[in-house]
Amino acid sequence: TVLIIDFGSQVTQLIARRVREEGVYSEVVPFNKAAEAMDRLKPKAVILSGGPASVIEGESPRAPQTVFEAGIPVLGICYGEQAMADQLGGIVEGGHHREFGRAEIEVIKPAALFEGVWQEGQRYTVWMSHGDRVTQLPAGFEVIATSDNAPFAAIADESRKFYGVQFHPEVVHTPQGAQLLRNFVRGVAGLQGDWTMGAFREEAIKKIRDQVGDKRVLCGLSGGVDSAVAAVLIHEAIGDQLTCVFVDHGLMRLGEAEQVVSLFRNTYNIPLVHVDASEMFLKELDGVSDPEKKRKTIGKLFIDVFEAEAKKIGGADFLAQGTLYPDVIESVSFTGGPSVTIKSHHNVGGLPERMNMKLVEPLRDLFKDEVRALGRELGLPESFVGRHPFPGPGLAIRCPGEITVEKLDILRKADAIYLEEIRAAGLYDVIWQAFAVLLPVRTVGVMGDGRTYDHVLALRAVTSVDGMTADFYPYQMDFLGRTATRLINEVRGINRVVYDVTSKPPGTIEWE
Ligand code: XMP
Repeated sequence: TVLIIDFGSQVTQLIARRVREEGVYSEVVPFNKAAEAMDRLKPKAVILSGGPASVIEGESPRAPQTVFEAGIPVLGICYGEQAMADQLGGIVEGGHHREFGRAEIEVIKPAALFEGVWQEGQRYTVWMSHGDRVTQLPAGFEVIATSDNAPFAAIADESRKFYGVQFHPEVVHTPQGAQLLRNFVRGVAGLQGDWTMGAFREEAIKKIRDQVGDKRVLCGLSGGVDSAVAAVLIHEAIGDQLTCVFVDHGLMRLGEAEQVVSLFRNTYNIPLVHVDASEMFLKELDGVSDPEKKRKTIGKLFIDVFEAEAKKIGGADFLAQGTLYPDVIESVSFTGGPSVTIKSHHNVGGLPERMNMKLVEPLRDLFKDEVRALGRELGLPESFVGRHPFPGPGLAIRCPGEITVEKLDILRKADAIYLEEIRAAGLYDVIWQAFAVLLPVRTVGVMGDGRTYDHVLALRAVTSVDGMTADFYPYQMDFLGRTATRLINEVRGINRVVYDVTSKPPGTIEWE
């Protein structure tokens, strides 16, 4: 195991990813849980992440001293380099020249970290993002690379296998960064790249059994990939101690609810309670047009229905969730400041506290594409595993204004045709997410010899790595033209189609 100690950098998740890409298992833990993790995991190497704090501030975080006493290789990145330097007796100062973005460094000494990648005397592009810098090295260290504003851009104590880099090797803007990280985990730490999704599956099953024992687990299925993969994995671990509850809010896409039910009942034989609560949801949403009110209404009702069903089947000690690593990181604020609520995300947040259940979250350390790989490993069909993300509140937030059965029907048909065209054009996997939005606006048109006065449909498609930022997808005009024609011809109630060319930021992916 490589232990990655998180000081709150936005890109810590990328370090974990790079390490796993090398076939080496890693775990990310926040700095305040690192001492416990050192004991529990007995890691073969440690990476200290960057972070927003400043080492020269009194209360700023540090790594547990055991990290440097365990006789294992340590790589400090950015803030991690500074924390390491400070903890080992060096000096860090507030830099007068802050460096943000692309920078050039010069390698001045060969080192195991650079082996086969960077040569002495050459200059290389890296990504920097720092204000402070190391100004005096701890004993045993020497400088191996410099930049104009960070004389100690990379430092090393080769005898102890301690390395510090001021730049970020984990981001793509440091072109050879991934190779440097490979050098650290494979070369310096000597770890074998034999970790696979199959190994993850075995370990996860063992962990679930240890945690759950002979107790019962409930899992809320959303129809999406994450909860489905979590459920199948948990079922493999504990069999019918697991019961899945699928609260069908009637806001799913065409045929989606049926697919989930059939997949679980027929293919996997997993006990499933299917609650058709669509009427209840529609009634509760009647007259609601404010986006936040919609989200809250759906979230609350979902919890109520789930709780009632759980009671009916006699409750359980554990609640399973398909929480992913990006969800974890988004919900932890290291900077301490209150973050602004852009949208209240609807998952089953709040449920465990209310129902006094413990959580089982077997996907907590994974990224979306890794969850997909695990789904394939577990034999889930490609059509399910490769599916675009779909928000918890479903079509309700793709129908701005008040929601009616008629509008939902129009939207479902339109969405299905749009996705069909995307698949036919071979674009489904290139796009992160694509969907239609039925606008509460009617415009005048002419069809045949008659006047029409119908809804406008907006199409959305974005590329993204993690949903945090996104670019609108640059379709060819003929694709848009063809799709619009089909939509207007085949879906009654739509007479105009527009394409959303907003990226995120400043837009969000969903319209509400
Ligand atoms: P936004 O619209 O915030 O969406 O740019 C980012 C990603 O999150 C999805 N999304 C949700 N997922 N519950 C979810 O599980 C929600 O309430 C929710 N709202 C948005 C959205 O589809 C996109 O992938």
